[in-house]
Amino acid sequence: MALHTRLTDLLEIEHPVMLAGMGGVSYHRLVAAVSEAGGIGTLGASTMSAEELPEEMALVRQLTDKPFGVDLLTAMPGQVERGIQSVIDGGARIFVAGLGVPREAIDLLHSHNILVGSMCGKVRHAVGAVASGVDFVVAQGTEGGGHTGTVATMALVPQVVDAVGDKVPVVAAGGLFDGRGLAASLALGADGVWIGTRFIATPEARAVKGYKETLVGMREDDTVISRAYTGKTCRVVRNDWTNHYEQHPQDLQPFPAQAIASTKAGVNHLGAEDGTVVDVSKEFMPAGQGVGAITELVPAGELVAAIVRDAERTLEQIAAVRR
Ligand SMILES: Cc1cc2nc3c(=O)[nH]c(=O)nc-3n(C[C@H](O)[C@H](O)[C@H](O)COP(=O)(O)O)c2cc1C
Repeated sequence: MALHTRLTDLLEIEHPVMLAGMGGVSYHRLVAAVSEAGGIGTLGASTMSAEELPEEMALVRQLTDKPFGVDLLTAMPGQVERGIQSVIDGGARIFVAGLGVPREAIDLLHSHNILVGSMCGKVRHAVGAVASGVDFVVAQGTEGGGHTGTVATMALVPQVVDAVGDKVPVVAAGGLFDGRGLAASLALGADGVWIGTRFIATPEARAVKGYKETLVGMREDDTVISRAYTGKTCRVVRNDWTNHYEQHPQDLQPFPAQAIASTKAGVNHLGAEDGTVVDVSKEFMPAGQGVGAITELVPAGELVAAIVRDAERTLEQIAAVRR
């Protein structure tokens, strides 16, 4: 049995499981492992320099022939445009943008047979992205790790499906970590899942020292939405740094000044070398609310297989309810 959806057709992949393009985490080893397992890996290019992105794409290509993508989430003017040429040259199958993609960029990507997706935290973001010509949307609920909105996945996904699902595939994201989440997403009308946090706790993920171990030890209520690291609302591991700004909100600066401040203070190493030693009691560690379910590191390919197998079993169990 296989889970066959509009997303697997569109992306020409085996399983409707996408690795989120996590800045600082989704580098070539993790991306290649997910693609090789039949899902699709997405490089988190927001933390990569102009030189690093083509290198990372070439390294993915050395490890797999299967399709992979690039995600660029940035508020910096011009960065998306600059990254796009690398995406075209490096042979990516998909490009995903966090903050909208200009129409001309979408047309350029399409002319090179690259599919374009857009991250959406609200129905109106999805409607705007589809009007601009994107090929799929990712509806990310507030439960998700990283920069996030206020609407929960359970409420957001079916509303995005109702608004744009007749035109493009919708991918569910935020707080999803296993096969039950994939089955539930399909039940909500989505065509697949986009998973971040669960894939950090894999041997292939790039991370500062202590990040993965911290996730394994956390409970579901140990994250917080905070502006303490970037100036924008970001779901992260709650710690001494976030607690300080919760108690002293007057100290917060807007984006990007707060990002510069947290980097200068030595608590923001997203994008640093794998295994960089940090103070985990203050470090920037984005994580979603599904974190409480993570009890061990699991190779990324095994995770993809388990998610699909458990989703199939869950769908069978649900079907059996009707008998
Ligand atoms: C460490 C981390 C970094 C992230 N960086 C990005 C990013 O650069 N671009 C982006 O579109 N989303 C980013 N996100 C959000 C993910 O794309 C995704 O929507 C989210 O992780 C899904 O929720 P989950 O973590 O509960 O699975 C990041 C998330 C995490 C945990």
